[in-house]
Amino acid sequence: MSKIILGIETSCDETSAAVLKQQKSRIIILSNIIASSAQLQSEYGGVFPEQAAREQLKLMIPTIKKALSDAAVKPQDIDAIAVTHGPGLIGSLLVGVETAKVLATLWNKPLIPVNHLMGHFYANWINAGMEDGGRRMEEITPTPGPQPPTFPCIGLLVSGGHTDLVLFKDHGKYQYLGGTRDDAAGECFDKCARMLGYLYPGGPKISKLAQSGNPKSFALPRPLAASADYDFSFSGLKTAFSNLLTNQVTNNQIVADLCASIEQAIIDSLLKKTIRAAQEYNLEQIIVAGGVAANQKLFESLKNNFTGLVSVPPPILCTDNAAMIAAAAFFINKEIRPDDLQANPNLSLSI
Ligand code: KG4
Ligand code: ZN
Repeated sequence: MSKIILGIETSCDETSAAVLKQQKSRIIILSNIIASSAQLQSEYGGVFPEQAAREQLKLMIPTIKKALSDAAVKPQDIDAIAVTHGPGLIGSLLVGVETAKVLATLWNKPLIPVNHLMGHFYANWINAGMEDGGRRMEEITPTPGPQPPTFPCIGLLVSGGHTDLVLFKDHGKYQYLGGTRDDAAGECFDKCARMLGYLYPGGPKISKLAQSGNPKSFALPRPLAASADYDFSFSGLKTAFSNLLTNQVTNNQIVADLCASIEQAIIDSLLKKTIRAAQEYNLEQIIVAGGVAANQKLFESLKNNFTGLVSVPPPILCTDNAAMIAAAAFFINKEIRPDDLQANPNLSLSI
């Protein structure tokens, strides 16, 4: 028996629609269309909520149409519609949520709301995907292998707006261990990049420049590294970074060294608590999710410092996409009547 889900994601500046199929225990991407207004946003120096939502209004229907046609799927083939209902920008969320409500009503399909943060984790459960507009079937091999994660495991979510550590016991069952007290890890990457004059998103830029830098060149703090809890803090790190910039940035090598140093400081902070949680709870698997999970050095550092399995989705499934939202809906099926679904910009994992 197979099942097909249409996923819709519009929590920040991306407009994404994806069609996924569950066949036996495999979750396969038939299409995953991601239309981003990042270029437009970066010209303005960040994500401007109203402008992002206006773009999404224009892009939503063409994106869904393309997802269906690339997947060669008709509305009657779809078994359910999954949509991100929070957290995120309210104007952006409303575009996806209201579209999903209308389609679920018109097509008479079950509607499944997905917490965006939980959706990020489910990118780790996707086994295979389509590339090149959905025409060529190609294995996207999730590192370290195509096996889905097993419970219990530690989940580290690192995105532009969130940094959370959870202990997963089963699908939909988890214990919240801790999170950032101020800025998110991705936000720290973005803000430090901005201080160096680079546009959003800053994480990929910093990690690229860091490759030719020395991570030990500049002394930066590891905030909360010694605290007994599982919390993180990145705002002090950002301030310490800004203090380094006075009169320092005189050539490309210094920029590379600064990037390597801040990247290392962020990774060390994430690493310490994540590994400690896995050891304390005696767990053999860590799953990482969110845009910062695309950082290769973070993955390598976790792998080198942990004896168990570390699972990170392929980079395209780390940043915001609708495939992860549809994937989550195969496992956490909380069907809701369209009239009852509300976008909730303040949803979180810590309940
Ligand atoms: O999950 P995501 O696409 O959006 C949110 O839900 O926030 O994450 C975006 C964040 C940005 O802060 C971006 O700078 C960061 O992920 N990011 C990275 C990398 N790729 C994206 N940070 C570090 N290294 C990367 N390679
Ligand atoms: Zn996200």
